Amino acid sequence: MSQRTLSIIKPDATKKNLIGKIVARFESEGLRIAAIRKAHLSRPEAEGFYAVHSERPFFGELVDFMTSGPCVLIVLEGDNAVLKNREIMGATNPADAADNTLRKLYADSIGENAVHGSDSEENAAIEIAYFFQGIQVF
Ligand code: CMP
Repeated sequence: MSQRTLSIIKPDATKKNLIGKIVARFESEGLRIAAIRKAHLSRPEAEGFYAVHSERPFFGELVDFMTSGPCVLIVLEGDNAVLKNREIMGATNPADAADNTLRKLYADSIGENAVHGSDSEENAAIEIAYFFQGIQVF
């Protein structure tokens, strides 16, 4: 079943010049790039995106990090895209991530973990609409 999901290449990964490697990995695993843009998130944008985590103790740190440099916002499309992207990313904490996952390869810590991916089809639709409202998605 073809699905869409939102991926974010986070500021640690853009700083390390890893955009091309990460995008190439998605494509090599059969996911297609339906839309893509680079963006330096404002605090309100990052706070809104992560509103579900607003009561967590790490929320301030998360918003500081996500606004510390540019991100790349990507709509991925393909068979089982939500789950496939999560498998490619690996566990949230790179210490727990399986070998050859993006977080195992590229992330430094649970906070600076290289990529974000939607955790369900329902949240994917919400997250895609949040960043790509009014923008054509192919
Ligand atoms: P992400 O998939 O983008 O969704 C929420 C983010 O919160 C998560 O990735 C982590 O980067 C971050 N996060 C989760 N737990 C912690 C934590 N204990 N300390 C700092 N950041 C965290």
